[in-house]
Amino acid sequence: MIKVEGVTKVYGGFTAVDDVSFVCQPGRVTGFLGPNGAGKSTAMRMMVGLTPTTRGRITIGGHAYTDIPNPARHVGVLLDASAQHKGRSGREILNLAAITLGLPSSRVDEMLDLVSLSPKESKRRLKNYSLGMMQRLGIAHALLGDPEVLILDEPANGLDPAGIRWMRDLLKSYADRGGTVLLSSHLLNEVELIADEIILIGRGRIVAQGTKKELLSRDGQETAYVTAVDNAAFAAELARRGFPVEIAGDGLAVGTSPLEVGRAAAESQTVLTDLRSASTGLEDLFLELTADTQRESAVAVQPAPATVGTSNEGVA
Ligand SMILES: Nc1ncnc2c1ncn2[C@@H]1O[C@H](COP(=O)(O)OP(=O)(O)OP(=O)(O)O)[C@@H](O)[C@H]1O
Ligand SMILES: [Mg+2]
Repeated sequence: MIKVEGVTKVYGGFTAVDDVSFVCQPGRVTGFLGPNGAGKSTAMRMMVGLTPTTRGRITIGGHAYTDIPNPARHVGVLLDASAQHKGRSGREILNLAAITLGLPSSRVDEMLDLVSLSPKESKRRLKNYSLGMMQRLGIAHALLGDPEVLILDEPANGLDPAGIRWMRDLLKSYADRGGTVLLSSHLLNEVELIADEIILIGRGRIVAQGTKKELLSRDGQETAYVTAVDNAAFAAELARRGFPVEIAGDGLAVGTSPLEVGRAAAESQTVLTDLRSASTGLEDLFLELTADTQRESAVAVQPAPATVGTSNEGVA
């Protein structure tokens, strides 16, 4: 378990991370999202003692990272895959780490196999690695000591589609076996597929956090899209039942679950041609909640509520 309590990082007069608190639970994949410069990498660096905190406390499995003996046996870290000696081969890098950790060299072969780096590739020097190969090596390095916790800064960066799918399956099964995973990413679709919990950060502050389900259903407020043969009549029926309803495209957006809408349709003998859940996508949520922290004004489409929990918007 990773516990971050009231952590702040100030560089000179600039606050890069501002009073951030969250917990990453075992058995869960936690996605750490935020625009460029939001403070994700800084927060991760503080977790593993590479950057001291200005205020606050971070523990992993109840201990500060710097107090954990042989930390790579407990915490797998991938912050910058290129931060290795460029003249060493991938295999040498893993071999050195294995020796430091007291692991047999067979573990290196196992990891190279796991991340699909061929024996030939593993003998190439790091300076001749492609971005994706470097990233695969970084993942192998993080997993080498069979840790219980993984802290990965943009692990999917540079991976090809098959590699991204492989990593998703790898991290999911790692969490299913009880591992704790914290990963940052800009690939929102990817995070939506993989993360159980999501932490959204903008300008150093957490703007939203919760389970994927909670966030995407906007604080439990579900929305259903429905199209009936007679939309006007069904809209009147839904309004009579007290559901917020608006016209949306060819159909209606209703501020309740598809189950309730289906029930209303059955009871009023309404013929439907479409009914589905219209939970906000992660990308919409991300752009909305971080609108005032984004560089591109074009994405500042809606005012950002302070937190998802205080949002009292009607149907989308
Ligand atoms: N050593 C430092 N000195 C001064 N400012 C720093 C330092 N390290 C980071 N920062 C600033 O802290 C802020 C957060 O940076 P950080 O790298 O944590 O962002 P990030 O969320 O990881 O962004 P990205 O998505 O681009 O990787 C940035 O404004 C950055 O310039
Ligand atoms: Mg970063």
